[in-house]
Amino acid sequence: MESFDPVTRQGLSITNLFWVELVISGLLLVLVIGVMIVALRRFGHRPGDDEDPPPVHGNPRLEVLWTATPAATLVIMFVLVIGTMRTVDAEQPGAMRVVVTGHQWWWQYTFPDQQVITANEVHLPVGTALQISLQSSDVIHSFHVPQFGWMQDLVPGKTNTMWVTLDRPGTYDGTCNQYCGLQHAWMRLRVVAESPDQFNAWAAQQAAPVSVSGAHGEQVFQQNTCVACHMIRGLPGATGTVGPDLTHLGSRATLGAGVVDNTPEQLRAWISNPQAIKPGVLMPAFSSISASDLNDLVAYLESLK
Ligand code: CUA
Repeated sequence: MESFDPVTRQGLSITNLFWVELVISGLLLVLVIGVMIVALRRFGHRPGDDEDPPPVHGNPRLEVLWTATPAATLVIMFVLVIGTMRTVDAEQPGAMRVVVTGHQWWWQYTFPDQQVITANEVHLPVGTALQISLQSSDVIHSFHVPQFGWMQDLVPGKTNTMWVTLDRPGTYDGTCNQYCGLQHAWMRLRVVAESPDQFNAWAAQQAAPVSVSGAHGEQVFQQNTCVACHMIRGLPGATGTVGPDLTHLGSRATLGAGVVDNTPEQLRAWISNPQAIKPGVLMPAFSSISASDLNDLVAYLESLK
């Protein structure tokens, strides 16, 4: 039912159009069935009445009526649809930019103006016009947060745009809505809509690079192939861009785009053998790391809040 309770201005105009069309369609259904019932009762066969009815040729008044009424209805709906499309697609000058990139099978969020890069879970300010640019790094995905009120595809080689203004704070879960391979179902996302002040605090925290601590787990990360795919901003060598940015991994609620909770136990299991948790995921298993190295690596990654 979340789709019928949109929290974006644009989604609200779509939902309003839906209700208007539903009411018009409902009235038409009642009218058609009503006319049918009246016709059956008044002109139906009666016992003993075996004569053919007199033939009827043309009724200009009725013909004009049943041509003009549907035509007028369609014109009204057309005008309403155009109005809604204009509302949904209206550019919002000065909107805050957010880039959403679909990957098999996770979401990347980049805020070019705030220097934030994160994955799967994103915070957005309410009451602020947002320009969400949708891109894909591999196949077609679809960015679907039911409470946004509509969705948009992410198409390789093309940038689609959603203009969004959130009206209500809250946590809104979404998912990929275009079949994109084995783990399509585990391409979840979460939007936390909050006040601009709360959002700015979150963005500042997410934008901050890590400070190099020299911890053993940090060295384990640098010395393994982790750095080839993952970025930890501020950590020398950790500049990979194939997998999710891990600069603030510890602040996320889930791993693998929602497949398990982000706990030290799950992270340990994930690094050892991600295929067991999310078959088909592009991350290879790291079974050769010693148990103590793995513990230190997990402790380090979870400390990245
Ligand atoms: Cu991405 Cu389905």
